[in-house]
Amino acid sequence: GMAALMLSSGAAYAQNKMTIGFSQVGSESGWRAAETKVSKIEAEKRGVDLKISDAQQKQENQIRAVRSFIAQGVDAIFIAPVVSTGWDAVLKEAKDAKIPVVLLDRSIDTKDESLYLTAVTSDTVYEGKVAGEWLAKETGGKCNVVELQGTVGSSPAINRKKGFDQVVAANPGMKIVRTQSGDFTRTKGKEVMESFIKAEGGGKNICAVYAHNDDMAIGAIQAIKEAGLKPGKDIKIVSIDGVPDIFKAMSDGEANVTVELTPNMAGPALDALAAFKKDGTAPKKWIQTESKVFTPETAKAEYDKRKDLY
Ligand code: AHR
Repeated sequence: GMAALMLSSGAAYAQNKMTIGFSQVGSESGWRAAETKVSKIEAEKRGVDLKISDAQQKQENQIRAVRSFIAQGVDAIFIAPVVSTGWDAVLKEAKDAKIPVVLLDRSIDTKDESLYLTAVTSDTVYEGKVAGEWLAKETGGKCNVVELQGTVGSSPAINRKKGFDQVVAANPGMKIVRTQSGDFTRTKGKEVMESFIKAEGGGKNICAVYAHNDDMAIGAIQAIKEAGLKPGKDIKIVSIDGVPDIFKAMSDGEANVTVELTPNMAGPALDALAAFKKDGTAPKKWIQTESKVFTPETAKAEYDKRKDLY
């Protein structure tokens, strides 16, 4: 009868539909929330059933989620790895189960690159370098910087520091006077900035904040205002991501520069995976997304472009 017919066509449909498990970091930043949203949209466009598991910033939760995806027999697994080490064992399990793994926005440390199909990420060292170069130029290479690092052990925190440090090394008048992790969150960015301000003469000894993401920069802006100083003027604000709130801050004169990270990592990942599933075409090991520098002149227009997407 009708019910049986519907059931069987439903089953046939389910057979064609690709199911992908996505172990997401959490919801630490505006950028992260946007990435989750865009991933759902990109999956839906392609008729992919995307199961997202929120790890709340804990690797142990990610490992558990990956094991559960393997047990469910998904067609592929996406991982945005919260930290870069400690992945080999669980990735080996996925490989043994013949389930391809794609890394999104963060990379891993491994000796065995066959453990994942490809990684869709930006050049995070470059992001730190270009942010530092903007600041060196702006300040004539003389600046006391406080640095808000991302999550300890995460590839963007390690690399964004490395890239910025290269510029500091090349400019004898540039110095990182304080550095600490704000875990990529607004709340911790603000807290850490408050302690930096106290330790550095009420903020008077600080020329600039370099934040590994916009959310921490926005927390820092708040702390600077509460200390009676002008963010963007008394203390320059340099960060990474390109979320709507930083464009808002830039157009209000309270932030100076951001390096955009696209929230669309899933689109290129899904395309690479589709080609691989179709005829075995192996993608490049690194699918690099663009990094673009934005300054206040275009901030209002850029804010308008992004505000509904996020
Ligand atoms: O891995 C990308 C980084 O993770 C983003 O820059 C940051 O906002 C997020 O938490």
